[in-house]
Amino acid sequence: MVSENVLLQPYNTFGIAAMARYFASFAGKDELVDLLDDPRSSQLPHMILGGGSNILFTQDYNGLVLKNELKGMTLVGEDNDYVYVKAGAGENWHRFVQYCIAQNLAGLENLSLIPGNVGASPMQNIGAYGVEIKDTFHELEALHLEDRRVVTFNNADCHFGYRESIFKKEYRHQFVILSVTYRLSKKPHFNTSYGAINQELERMGVKDLSIQAISQAVINIRSSKLPDPAKIGNAGSFFKNPAVDAAKYATLKTAFPNISAYPLDNGEYKLAAGWLIEQCGWKGYRQGDAGVHALQALVLVNYAHATGSEIYALSQQVLDSVAEKFGVQLEREVNIV
Ligand code: FAD
Ligand code: EPU
Repeated sequence: MVSENVLLQPYNTFGIAAMARYFASFAGKDELVDLLDDPRSSQLPHMILGGGSNILFTQDYNGLVLKNELKGMTLVGEDNDYVYVKAGAGENWHRFVQYCIAQNLAGLENLSLIPGNVGASPMQNIGAYGVEIKDTFHELEALHLEDRRVVTFNNADCHFGYRESIFKKEYRHQFVILSVTYRLSKKPHFNTSYGAINQELERMGVKDLSIQAISQAVINIRSSKLPDPAKIGNAGSFFKNPAVDAAKYATLKTAFPNISAYPLDNGEYKLAAGWLIEQCGWKGYRQGDAGVHALQALVLVNYAHATGSEIYALSQQVLDSVAEKFGVQLEREVNIV
């Protein structure tokens, strides 16, 4: 059923009170195709909404918002080392991670508690605590919006990069992801390379490492510094961590010896954008109801009634000040609508 003039506030974790001209949910592919053919909206733009945890609405949406409710989690294959688990795009991500962990299937434990749905996970190749989904992604099925074909994409097809995929670039707004299949390991390969995990495991008194313990450590770390969207509106990191070449890094390191960065395989250095933003004095800043989180400067927040354009304007001020102080151009990670 297509509803008209729907308030999007409950559907985005920033809690922005934008309106959608038309809004509908779909729980099956045929239902989706019918909605795409609906005469009221077929001439207007369409957008797919998952959990709304990586979106900033800067204005009302004059088109059809399609809320993905495709459910189901199934074991679809197995070999000596791996089990293949397929999930509907509308399944909650953390519920899916917990489903895998409960069956002792390893690979997603470091990605515990990331908000949003399974269908958005390949969009920006979600990542946290030393792991990205590209490490376990097997394939996905997606509906082409124009010709209505269902296409299967394997790992290489998706062109995964840091917070990137083909669906944010060449194929932007062209496909609806219907399901995603992950390849989980029967034998875990623990990844505790991210310093904070080992510290937390020690604090928890963990003697025998397990995927359950890693998941709990990640949950504890995330809960301690990332704002809960149920309490303060936000979409996680607002910007990406920028990479700079070795010469630029050397110049920055001389001028700012405490700079937070780590080397990449290609010779570049990844800078912690949170550190750059904090050094510009933004951490804990508040302007009306728009702000920069007091515990994590990479996260912009909506305390209650900020508009999307106020948050966006604040993000521009942050971008400009980082460019001026460090000569580094930040890029927004959140999808701006
Ligand atoms: P949405 O916000 O609904 O959509 C995101 C984009 O994908 C939109 O452009 C939308 O149109 C498109 N889209 C969604 N579903 C589909 C589909 N089925 N087919 C086609 N297009 C689709 N991200 C990380 O990578 N790592 C983190 O550690 C992390 N931490 C976070 C912490 C907090 C507190 C919050 C609020 C966010 C965090 N995020 C993190 C960002 C966010 O959780 C992820 O980007 C997540 O994958 C978004 O899922 P979603 O379902 O909410 O997507
Ligand atoms: N830092 C500061 N000040 C701050 C914030 C961070 O100095 O206000 C420094 C920290 O001290 C640390 C470094 O920056 O040395 C990295 O901080 P943190 O471990 O919190 O991670 P991050 O780089 O800020 C990234 C991801 C997160 C992901 C975490 C854990 C991006 C854009 N963000 O944040 O992803 O959860 O690592 O892996 O890559 C998201 O994408 O929405 C997200 C939350």
